[in-house]
Amino acid sequence: MAKVSLDSSALKRFVGKHELAQMQTMVNAVDKDLRNGTGAGNDFTGWLHLPTQYDKDEFARIKKAAKKIQSDSQVLVVIGIGGSYLGARMAVDFLHNTFYEAQDAKDRKAPLVVFAGNSISSTYVHDLVQLVGDKDFSINIISKSGTTTEPSIAFRVFKKKLIDKYGLEEANKRIYATTDKARGALKKEADANGYESFIIPDNIGGRYSVLTPVGLLPIAVSGGDIDQLMAGAADAEKELDNTDLNTNPAYQYAAYRNILYRKGYTTELIENYEPNLKNFAEWWKQLVGESGGKDNKGIFPASANFTTDLHSFGQYIQEGRRNLIETVLKLDKPNYDVEIPAEDDNLDGLGYLEGKTMDWANTKAYQAVVAAHNDGGVPVMSVHLPDETAHTLGYAIYFFEVAIAISGYLNGVNPFNQPGVEAYKVNMFGLLGKPGFEEIGDKLRKSMKENED
Ligand code: PA5
Repeated sequence: MAKVSLDSSALKRFVGKHELAQMQTMVNAVDKDLRNGTGAGNDFTGWLHLPTQYDKDEFARIKKAAKKIQSDSQVLVVIGIGGSYLGARMAVDFLHNTFYEAQDAKDRKAPLVVFAGNSISSTYVHDLVQLVGDKDFSINIISKSGTTTEPSIAFRVFKKKLIDKYGLEEANKRIYATTDKARGALKKEADANGYESFIIPDNIGGRYSVLTPVGLLPIAVSGGDIDQLMAGAADAEKELDNTDLNTNPAYQYAAYRNILYRKGYTTELIENYEPNLKNFAEWWKQLVGESGGKDNKGIFPASANFTTDLHSFGQYIQEGRRNLIETVLKLDKPNYDVEIPAEDDNLDGLGYLEGKTMDWANTKAYQAVVAAHNDGGVPVMSVHLPDETAHTLGYAIYFFEVAIAISGYLNGVNPFNQPGVEAYKVNMFGLLGKPGFEEIGDKLRKSMKENED
């Protein structure tokens, strides 16, 4: 089976072989920290062996719940934000038809999975309520803490709609709660109302939780193959448990990022040439941003969709400030390849491409871009995805999880906490008038008033 692999050949001008070799001792040390549980944040490394040591009973329950939802619902509204949203979103996009949302139900062969609670936009929620309309639907509310404002608000809206449509008893049977096993408001509510509940393990943080029920239930409902997803991740768990920088591509990637960061390359763009990888970038941005961005350091995660963005900010990448790293997610074999048709008159001058395929042209574009950006002073790495299967996705998820954990340790930070995420939440609670946060609200209002004057 083809593997996810790393091509670092376009780094030659930027990183010498000896520099990678010099990282080996450090990589050995941080690998020990990660695997022996001696590193910072060691109570959040449950994801490390998750692909082989997951709760099989709960996995079976996820499949059963997915079947029920598939049989009684046309739509599943998945409510969550951050780590309780992005993994499922990227997987649903990656595994299904590009126009999945617009497909007829008979072509999709599974309920439409839609996402709410990832913003506080009332237009979004209004429009989604309209989209659900009279259709049969269920809700999967996902929140580890059970107190996050965005999903809590959306949950109220969709819960009301569910109760209005089905009555309380049936509505409670259509709500699936994915949350902490013991703590939080959502757990309390789930127990009180008898929602079917799934557990987010204590030792797995949001951005590492896609292979827990957080991601697995929505992915299974959408028709994604969660057995293959876990099998791909399990292969990665086995194959990437090796510190040798000559053979472990995930550790190589982590080491290169560290070398480049220390040379002043402080922004990394994750790039794709496939629209269905756009949300993979969003998932990766959280993984990188929350894991590495702390203690006044870390690579800033950004993304670009190619070839689209070559026609917007390609100019900046080619000639702007030289602090960029590019990491391309290159799909080697798309599900479909379209031949470029022949035309007799060749008025558009495209005759030289007749008989070639679009993916062939896409790959040429990728090669051209790597060469041009390299010439322009941008180090480029490519992570090759062999195909668009769930197995490959599972492998890629684990690849980046372990690479970014190692990256964090190499940079001397705890890759598993996210203290900075709380700052805005506390302020928002103050301004919204949440009991217990009144003082913060008063202080903020005062300082906003002073700024106005
Ligand atoms: O990684 C994190 O901790 C955050 O991005 C959370 O995933 C996000 O805030 C949602 O939190 P919760 O699942 O508690 O609602």
